[in-house]
Amino acid sequence: MTTGMKLKQFLLHEKRAGVDLPYDLIELIHEVSITCKEIAATVSRGELSGVLGVAGSENVQGETQKELDIITNDIMADHLSVSGLVAGMGSEEIDDPIDVPSKERGEYLLMFDPLDGSSNIDVNISVGTIFSVLKAPLGCKETPKLDDYLQKGIEQKAAGFVVYGPSTVFVLTTGQGVHMFTLDSTIGEFVLTTEGVSIPEETTEYAINMANRRFWEEPMKQYIEDCQLGEDGPLGKRYNMRWVASMVAEVYRILIRGGIFMYPYDNRDPSKAGKLRLMYEANPMGFIIEQAGGMASTGHGRIMEVDSTGLHQRVPVVLGSAAEVRKVEEYHSKAEKVA
Ligand code: AHG
Ligand code: MN
Ligand code: MN
Repeated sequence: MTTGMKLKQFLLHEKRAGVDLPYDLIELIHEVSITCKEIAATVSRGELSGVLGVAGSENVQGETQKELDIITNDIMADHLSVSGLVAGMGSEEIDDPIDVPSKERGEYLLMFDPLDGSSNIDVNISVGTIFSVLKAPLGCKETPKLDDYLQKGIEQKAAGFVVYGPSTVFVLTTGQGVHMFTLDSTIGEFVLTTEGVSIPEETTEYAINMANRRFWEEPMKQYIEDCQLGEDGPLGKRYNMRWVASMVAEVYRILIRGGIFMYPYDNRDPSKAGKLRLMYEANPMGFIIEQAGGMASTGHGRIMEVDSTGLHQRVPVVLGSAAEVRKVEEYHSKAEKVA
């Protein structure tokens, strides 16, 4: 009986059952979860924490406010840099890799988005933290170089996210399925509540920011138009739409009841291949979605096989229920054949 096990207890149990989980990876996941509890506490205090509102403005004490993105970044970076478990880190909030003092270095690289959906924080809608774990090619011997971070998503050793919603839930994969742990605040522990999440193959629920329609490529415009035609259109079914503007909340919903989430390529800024970032948003979410039986694509191919060219590289994202993601890929491949 695994339901009810605490996070670390469950990972040790899996290791004993034969899952390839090094002890230091278990420790790293556990340390990340402790950090997320701290972020959950900060986020849940809302206005009381004195960090909401416009960053750079003064709070009631006359102090200049820091953005919550930066505060949560510092919580994660400060905690993990003295854990002895990471050789370096990459964060959405920091341009360059974050080095770790030589005595504190471990075997892994940690990529993270400390606060996803941060535009939602002032309006009290779910936000989250996303992370991805890679092996440091040189281990703990040297300070990792940028190139050491630029690995494909298929190289990930673990990935997860925490959604700070009505309940705080830690979603994790180490390549053996996806498991969910709900924070029991009475004991301060993440407790296993769902083992082996499975995304329904079919869906009638899509999530996309419709306001960007005019910037999309033709196949995406066509697919969404066909969704909107419902049972009278070529897709032959009536769709519903959701848009939370927090990827963590959208992916969580898809893990629970299926769906498709898209942040496609758009031509607002041709130098950017989409809005979402490969290393700490698309790759970890792609790993989780695939491990739960779904698909994660750029529209043209698997996200986790995209070559990584930079810490903050952007990528188009289409993920969720496998049959629906396959349909979107078909819209793209048909358009390529015509061209
Ligand atoms: P972040 O807050 O880390 O910058 O990420 C926000 C992302 C993602 O969570 C969400 O799906 C998307 O941006 C929302 O974009 P719109 O502002 O276009 O709705
Ligand atoms: Mn984000
Ligand atoms: Mn963020």
